[in-house]
Amino acid sequence: MSKNEVVMNPRKVAVVGCGFVGSASAFALMQSGLFSEMVLIDANFEKAEGEAFDISHGVPFTRPIKIYAGDYDDLADAAIVVITAGAAQKPGETRLDLVHKNINIFKSIIPEIVKRDFQGILLIVANPVDILTYTALKLSGYAPNRVIGSGTVLDTARLKERLGEHLEVDSRSVHAFIVGEHGDSEIAAWSSANVSGIPLHDFCEMRGHHDHEGATAEIAEKVKNSAYEIIQRKGATYYGIAMSVKRICEAIIRDERSILPISTMMDGEYGIKDVVLSMPSIVGAEGFISKVPISLSEDEIKALNKSAETLKSVLEEALE
Ligand SMILES: NC(=O)c1ccc[n+]([C@@H]2O[C@H](COP(=O)([O-])OP(=O)(O)OC[C@H]3O[C@@H](n4cnc5c(N)ncnc54)[C@H](O)[C@@H]3O)[C@@H](O)[C@H]2O)c1
Repeated sequence: MSKNEVVMNPRKVAVVGCGFVGSASAFALMQSGLFSEMVLIDANFEKAEGEAFDISHGVPFTRPIKIYAGDYDDLADAAIVVITAGAAQKPGETRLDLVHKNINIFKSIIPEIVKRDFQGILLIVANPVDILTYTALKLSGYAPNRVIGSGTVLDTARLKERLGEHLEVDSRSVHAFIVGEHGDSEIAAWSSANVSGIPLHDFCEMRGHHDHEGATAEIAEKVKNSAYEIIQRKGATYYGIAMSVKRICEAIIRDERSILPISTMMDGEYGIKDVVLSMPSIVGAEGFISKVPISLSEDEIKALNKSAETLKSVLEEALE
């Protein structure tokens, strides 16, 4: 080992960007017991410091963890860096509208991380998350398993919550994924949806619901528009994504090999290449391990390709 080589601390996490999403994620991570050290970094140091003080006052109610505001030198030995820095959607704005602002922010953040010889996993959360994960991958030069986006983990949680409510069953027993873009072109993969192994439609019949087409269309639409609905009412979304960040970190730190729809580089699956989007994937200590090729209907594959095309055209425009 060279003198300056960084030794990773598997119990350390860094959060870059301490706005609504960063601070809520830090709060969820503090309660998770996964880490013994957490550094908060923000362009506004005082904001990071205020959050660190506030969140650390909850520590006596959970497990010991040192929480402090810091700078890029402090993240070098982290196991995971969560990036939530960036402008958020304003009412009526799409995630893709944010692209230029946030690519520029990433151009300032990613090189700082690379300079520190960081060895861990980059978890991208800022939006548009698929485009920014692609950007982080290119700017960092890291192997694709180390650069993952929160993708449709949140959308999938929203789908399970809605279905659980609709069917009056524990949402943890619902197995269904949102795939593709984390955004307007996302796809509810109905053809593989099931409740504890029972195909979704059969379970719906069992629960007295017979209008499958109407109900699935309504639920998919509600899930897709969740962020708009929340932003219109309270200005930002952060609790659901904070729990998603915690869940992904848990899968990595505990090497759980959980199947989560994180966003990663596509490598020819369903004919899609050189674009980052979400597919169910095995997540563990190495970050992304492998995609899980769930069966999709022809229409779902078409929609997935369309989602990939949407993302590609944004990337081409953004990177011109
Ligand atoms: N992936 C998801 O599912 C999901 C869900 C909700 C929000 N988001 C996204 O997360 C991002 C953050 O949202 P928010 O509501 O927390 O916004 P926010 O405005 O509250 O916070 C952004 C923070 O980033 C900081 N920041 C800006 N530039 C920075 C830089 N160069 N270095 C360090 N810090 C910097 C700001 O000072 C601010 O504290 C947005 O892009 C939003 O769209 C993603």
